[in-house]
Amino acid sequence: MIKTDILVVGAGIAGLTFALKTANRRPDLKITVLTKTNREESNTRYAQGGVAAVWDFKTDSYKKHIEDTLDAGDGLCDEDIVEIVVKEGHERVKEIIEWGTRFDKHGADYDLGKEGGHSENRILHYKDYTGWEILRAMLEKAKTMPNIEIHDHFFAVDLISQHHLGHVVTRLNTNIECYGAYVLDLKTNHIETILAKITVVATGGAGQVYRSTTNPVIATGDGMAMVYRMKGRLENMEFVQFHPTSLFNPAGDNPAFLVSEAVRGFGAILKSKEGEEFMHLYDERKSLAPRDIVARAIDNEMKKRGDEYMCLDCSHLDKKRFLGHFPTIYDKCMSLGINPMKDLIPVVPAAHYVCGGIKTDEIGRTSVKNMYACGECTSSGLHGANRLASNSLLEAMVFAHRIFKEVVEKVDDIEIKTGIPEWNAESTSDPKEMVLITQSMKELKEIMSSYVGIVRSNVRLKRAADRLLLLYNETEKLYASTTLSPQLMELRNLITIGYLITTSAQMRHESRGLHFTTDYPEKLSFAETVLR
Ligand code: FAD
Ligand code: SIN
Repeated sequence: MIKTDILVVGAGIAGLTFALKTANRRPDLKITVLTKTNREESNTRYAQGGVAAVWDFKTDSYKKHIEDTLDAGDGLCDEDIVEIVVKEGHERVKEIIEWGTRFDKHGADYDLGKEGGHSENRILHYKDYTGWEILRAMLEKAKTMPNIEIHDHFFAVDLISQHHLGHVVTRLNTNIECYGAYVLDLKTNHIETILAKITVVATGGAGQVYRSTTNPVIATGDGMAMVYRMKGRLENMEFVQFHPTSLFNPAGDNPAFLVSEAVRGFGAILKSKEGEEFMHLYDERKSLAPRDIVARAIDNEMKKRGDEYMCLDCSHLDKKRFLGHFPTIYDKCMSLGINPMKDLIPVVPAAHYVCGGIKTDEIGRTSVKNMYACGECTSSGLHGANRLASNSLLEAMVFAHRIFKEVVEKVDDIEIKTGIPEWNAESTSDPKEMVLITQSMKELKEIMSSYVGIVRSNVRLKRAADRLLLLYNETEKLYASTTLSPQLMELRNLITIGYLITTSAQMRHESRGLHFTTDYPEKLSFAETVLR
């Protein structure tokens, strides 16, 4: 049994920002941070475009960034939260610069990029690997803090609550408490009980529930699923963002390689493979419209034309500047025989970001006592029905900071819970046929991609729900009889995520933001939503 003051599940930008700030303010506290594989692997690492923040106050303003975020969110953002994130974002970015993060400069000033839905240039970036750079600086800083212990290959299985003390907990309970987590140490295959006064869930996204995704293989929605199992609140799961431009690769990379929206911000134009422009048919902002509009337009054009992909034309752009900004994208294209300066780059939409997640308030509190959440696993109210590009790194830092401020005050009033039993693995044995797990995973991704993708309908959603129920029943049986493995836990978690996305989509009888259904193509007015 491990005892710690604070347990942080996840070492992406959200978990690390929180851990670094808390460790710095309270050197007397023990802060335990978990990663399911290693600390270098997370969605954060792959962030390309950058961090959106109002920086040049001569041309930009908080008001403009707020308006752009609300516009992208299509009526479902929480306006107070949007204001908090936009206004506090500037300070948070300054802090990570102080921690050693480099952003590209143009002379003495930061070189501010542009992405879809932004009315001004406000994206701070480091070439096309901003996330890697942020993570590098944070991990360097973490090394200097003796009270942060990062445990790699520590896979959180379940969050501990009254349920584990034998109490019946339902979704109607308002007094659920978190005492820590059961964690599979992948090096010893032993399930550790980690008890904490406060638990912060920062487990990132769930893109792996789809066949094609920009998210790395670790993005299996573990935190969201664990919170759902402990009967905590989640919301807005129907709003899954498909990035319009992942690199089309017939070999089917997992993850799909992203061609950053910043490339369009730099002047690249979406075209068909015959070289015809089409975005003007969908939105006056053309290739730089918000993501939901561009992804749907590409999906529609592909279906209409019977093409497997659409294209990005960069051939008119300056090669030297392009290489300076997008070295990774250039190299990846060249490795596949595509010269971005001459050839059209083939692109397709891919699952990228779940806007919904664990419901949090303005401090990052969840519905569960002594448990907070920040980053991509949450639904903070910032994104509404569609996230504005490059707002998620910002959101993670702002809420990590807000949680830190509350936790350093509150932690001393909380006792570590006693009487928590060790994990019970009785009557389970090693899986005899791994194919049962790998095949179910393939089926799950097929179901979600075919029936719960960019365009939905009642029939497709019903079919998905029926198929998911079968998978759920089979997997729960397997879970009850099999020794735990990361593959089995990820399958179980992703089935939960698939179920939550599908049932949330079934409940929304309108098309809004990222949720488009042919059975209810219109957006409901506020009055209609209330009456429904
Ligand atoms: P992550 O960075 O994903 O970290 C999750 C952590 O949780 C990892 O350490 C993982 O090991 C750990 N974890 C998960 N489950 C468990 C478990 N069961 N047990 C133990 N540990 C666990 N956003 C922007 O704002 N700008 C961009 O330019 C941008 N570009 C992107 C490009 C790509 C290709 C992708 C995939 C995303 C991009 N995003 C971008 C989104 C952004 O990167 C993420 O939303 C953000 O980094 C999420 O940070 P996080 O800390 O919440 O989660
Ligand atoms: C990109 O670089 O296109 C991704 C930005 C984001 O997801 O916010």
